[in-house]
Amino acid sequence: MPKLETDREAFSLQIQSMFNAIAPRYDLLNRVLSCGVDRFWRKRAVSRLMLKPGGRYLDIACGTGDVALEYFERPAESPRQVVALDFSEAMLQRAGTKFKDRGRQSALPRVCAAAEALPFADASFDGVSVAFGVRNFADREQGLREMARVLRPGCRAVILEFSLPRQPLLRESYRLYFDRVLPGIGRWVSGHPDAYTYLPESVGVFPEREEFAVMMRNAGFGRVRYREMTLGIVTLYVGIRDE
Ligand SMILES: C[S@@+](CC[C@H](N)C(=O)[O-])C[C@H]1O[C@@H](n2cnc3c(N)ncnc32)[C@H](O)[C@@H]1O
Repeated sequence: MPKLETDREAFSLQIQSMFNAIAPRYDLLNRVLSCGVDRFWRKRAVSRLMLKPGGRYLDIACGTGDVALEYFERPAESPRQVVALDFSEAMLQRAGTKFKDRGRQSALPRVCAAAEALPFADASFDGVSVAFGVRNFADREQGLREMARVLRPGCRAVILEFSLPRQPLLRESYRLYFDRVLPGIGRWVSGHPDAYTYLPESVGVFPEREEFAVMMRNAGFGRVRYREMTLGIVTLYVGIRDE
């Protein structure tokens, strides 16, 4: 199981290999474990980007491409290009198949790279998204700084991440599901021994909402807002890059 935040390079390699291994069952597990609500979370995140028609966007930690495809669900605001980036080849391959099936391949280039070293020029995107990826970055501050760097001044980044409900009773019940039920289902469906034990563990050590918002501000996002969704089990952060 990936050891949280010890040796960054080793951690990164473990995360990469874990996502390569679970890629074939990733979408199925998302739908099952979230009872289908995950689609709504991604839709909401992209809507908060305030897309400019003809803009260029970047989806970091794109996985199998669901967020990247979501950009094209608003015909009036349709972007020129959405670059889908991930460091897992297996995830990118599945994203490629989806893009091709939807006839979007040319507008959705895929890039295999780490979020902490984005291979793009400064101020080259009109918006950036990361859904359920930031928690896994080996160097979170560096990942956030890279997001700010590639954004044009005044443009937005949206970050979706799991969180824990604030209300104590709800929090305890959710932890019971998250810590005891979810890992078993995850292990059974994905066939991976640890990936779905790592999930609740990594959510447990992720910074509290305000602390993460401060990290975003320090990375170059002058204005940061966040909003809890689905009783607080997911939080959507929106940051505006300093002018
Ligand atoms: C939980 S999945 C989320 C995928 C997708 N965004 C979604 O909403 O379903 C996390 C993804 O982040 C990628 N990832 C994790 N750390 C990364 C990093 N440092 N650089 C690039 N990709 C990373 C993994 O390979 C994986 O595909």
